[in-house]
Amino acid sequence: MAAKSSKIKTLFACSECGAQTPKWAGRCTGCGDWNTLVEELSGGAADATVIPLAPTRRSGPARIGEVRTDTARPISTGIDELDVVLGGGLVAGSVTLLGGEPGIGKSTLLLQLLAARDDTTLYVSAEESATQVRLRAERLDAIRPDLWLHAETSLPHVINAIDETQPQLVVIDSIQTMVDPELSSAPGSVGQVRGCAHRLVNEAKERNIAIVLVGHVTKDGNLAGPRVLEHVVDTVLQFEGDRHHALRLLRAVKHRFGPTNELGLFEMVGAGLVAVPDPSTMFLADRRTGIAGSAVVPTMEGRRPIVVELQALTSPGLENVPKRRSAQGIDGGRLSMLMAVLGQRGRIKVGDQDVYASAAGGAKLTEPGLDLGICLAVASAMNDIPLPADMAVFGEVGLGGEIRQVSHAPRRVTEASRLGFRRIILPAKSPDADDEVAGQVRLIRVSTLTEALRAATLTP
Ligand code: TYD
Ligand code: MG
Repeated sequence: MAAKSSKIKTLFACSECGAQTPKWAGRCTGCGDWNTLVEELSGGAADATVIPLAPTRRSGPARIGEVRTDTARPISTGIDELDVVLGGGLVAGSVTLLGGEPGIGKSTLLLQLLAARDDTTLYVSAEESATQVRLRAERLDAIRPDLWLHAETSLPHVINAIDETQPQLVVIDSIQTMVDPELSSAPGSVGQVRGCAHRLVNEAKERNIAIVLVGHVTKDGNLAGPRVLEHVVDTVLQFEGDRHHALRLLRAVKHRFGPTNELGLFEMVGAGLVAVPDPSTMFLADRRTGIAGSAVVPTMEGRRPIVVELQALTSPGLENVPKRRSAQGIDGGRLSMLMAVLGQRGRIKVGDQDVYASAAGGAKLTEPGLDLGICLAVASAMNDIPLPADMAVFGEVGLGGEIRQVSHAPRRVTEASRLGFRRIILPAKSPDADDEVAGQVRLIRVSTLTEALRAATLTP
């Protein structure tokens, strides 16, 4: 015993990024976050970092053209929006991390996923009792003979359950509540989470089954589970949206088997999550026309155009106090940059104003095509002049005040036209609209911010 304990030493690990240091500090040297270092025991089996990733099969080098690819084909999940995000479905032998805030609908989505399959699946509930899960499954109409349920937090028991039921897909809800007694670090600690995840990745590869891990978001709200997990898994999905609204957005932030820019849209209703057939209409549902500080933008989420409303409000800031740039659903740094351009190139005096800007509907958007919409919404708020009700805008704004082209202009125009917008301000060099919409919309091509402000009649 004494010999063993002498090998165990105290370490501090960051609960955000997993970086380890021998000494406690207020700030993590790995990711720069404050107050994230927690004590961990390390040494012997406790050190999860020493667990090697087992290769799938022992084999030598092969010519790249002769490597088998049929094992990495996605299998449809039976939920269309999920398939869109995953580029076809889940891949056998892969591990997916689903992150999101509590109450956003992770357990609901995964129960629906398990119910939609027609092979054997196992749901490991480490947070809710079997009764709770069954009651929910009844509401979701997810009761079927091949869906196994195990309420368990101990990893060895979970692996026994996998042995016993031989599932093709396993959901672990959640990875943060899993415990491996062989690891000496405390339940819920970074060491445990990482150690359990490593073992589950090995199980997935060895058995060639798909495993989905639920991970809670960290306190900064934009990462799914501790960052350490992102490196271990094949795919990271993020489930976002406003808990108080029904709309839910699912995206892949990392995906080893396909693109990461597709967006899945769900609505939470009484019977669980259902696909949103017409997101643009949903995003514009609460829009009131004739109000200053609003601009409508056809934005692109992956290959899907979505028309959203951007809102802005300005109010005189306090003297000698840095002015506020508050962004919701859009990037804060981008907003600050655009306000500088609007002041310097567009001659709209936002320098002494607090500026609030948001994307309506709880969506988080990061696409450059939003730039012009943000600028015009703020200019509209500043001058108290509403944009015409049938006008939509898109385009990237450069530091010189130039309006730059963005991807998929014709698709954006088509979607805006479908929703009844008849005038569209867009970058000068954008390709023409598709023939069928060309006669219905007026395209107002602009090459500078000043031209755009004039076209939207926002110059006082
Ligand atoms: P849940 O899946 O438990 O979220 P998470 O696992 O991410 O914490 O979803 C919980 C919320 O969803 C809860 O507030 C109730 C709501 N809900 C519905 O509106 N309809 C349903 O059919 C279900 C199952 C849940
Ligand atoms: Mg849950």
